[in-house]
Amino acid sequence: MEITLVSTYQKLSEVAADYVQETMKSRAHCVLGLATGETPVGLYAQLVRRYRRREISFKNTTTFNLDEYVGLRPADESSYHYYMHRHLFRHVDMDVNKIHIPLGAAADLEGECRRYEYAIEDSGGIDLQILGIGRNGHIGFNEPGSTCTGRTRVVQLEASTLEANAQYFPSVQDMPHEAISMGIGTVLEQSRHILLLASGAAKAAAVEKMLSADETTGKLPASCLQLHPNVTCVLDYDAAANLSDSVVRENRVLEGGV
Ligand code: F6R
Repeated sequence: MEITLVSTYQKLSEVAADYVQETMKSRAHCVLGLATGETPVGLYAQLVRRYRRREISFKNTTTFNLDEYVGLRPADESSYHYYMHRHLFRHVDMDVNKIHIPLGAAADLEGECRRYEYAIEDSGGIDLQILGIGRNGHIGFNEPGSTCTGRTRVVQLEASTLEANAQYFPSVQDMPHEAISMGIGTVLEQSRHILLLASGAAKAAAVEKMLSADETTGKLPASCLQLHPNVTCVLDYDAAANLSDSVVRENRVLEGGV
C-alpha cells in the first residue's frame, strides 16, 4: 500500500481532493465511490470549492455510495442521501441520474442489494473508491466478522458503530440497527484505486491493525484492503501514531502531497 502522511485534517482533505480531481481529469467519464461520516466532510468542501473556481465539473461523473441505513428515506435528515446532497451534490453540477445510493427504504431489500451490485458492474466499475475506517476497523458498514469476499447486502450494526453514529440521530433509540452496505468483495473487485482516509487518535488502533501483516483474515475488515493492488491511505499524524517500523518499511510512505 501507499501511505501518505499529513500533519492536519485540512491537509488530508486537500490531498484527498487532489486524488479525486486527478481521477476526474484523467477520464472523459469518471466513476467515483463515495463514503459518508465525519472524515470526508473536508474533502467534499474542497471539491465544492474547486467546482466554484471552475477547476472541476461533475457533469460526466457517476457516483456510488457505500451504504445507507435501512428504513430511512432519502428526505430523512439522518440518511446518507441527505448527507450527500447537503455536503456535495446540491452544490455542484451533478447529473442526478448518475447518483447511486442504496435505497434503505426499499420494500424488497435483497432485490435492492442485487440491483445495486448490477448497477456498479454496468457502470464498468469504480475508478476511485473513497473509504473511511470505523474505530472497530469496519469499511462501509462491513463490521468485524465480514468476509473479504462479501457482496452488497443488509448488515447488522455493532454497538460501537451505533454509539459512534448516534450523534446524527435524535436518540440512539431512533437509530436503525441495520444498513445496506456494499460488500468488501464488491469494493475489492470493482475499484481500480482505493483511497482510505483516516484522521484522529480514535482511528490509530484500527489503522495499525489494518496495515499489520498478520491481519488478513477479515477479522478486522479493513485489513482485507491488503489484498488489493492499488490502495492509497491518507493518514494524519494522530491516525498514524501507532504505525510500527515494519509497517513503515513494508509500505511506501510519503510525506504531504500527491
Ligand atoms: C460511511 C462509511 C463508514 C465510515 C466510518 C468512519 O459511508 O462507510 O465506514 O467511513 O464509520 O466514519 P467517520 O468518518 O465518521 O469516523
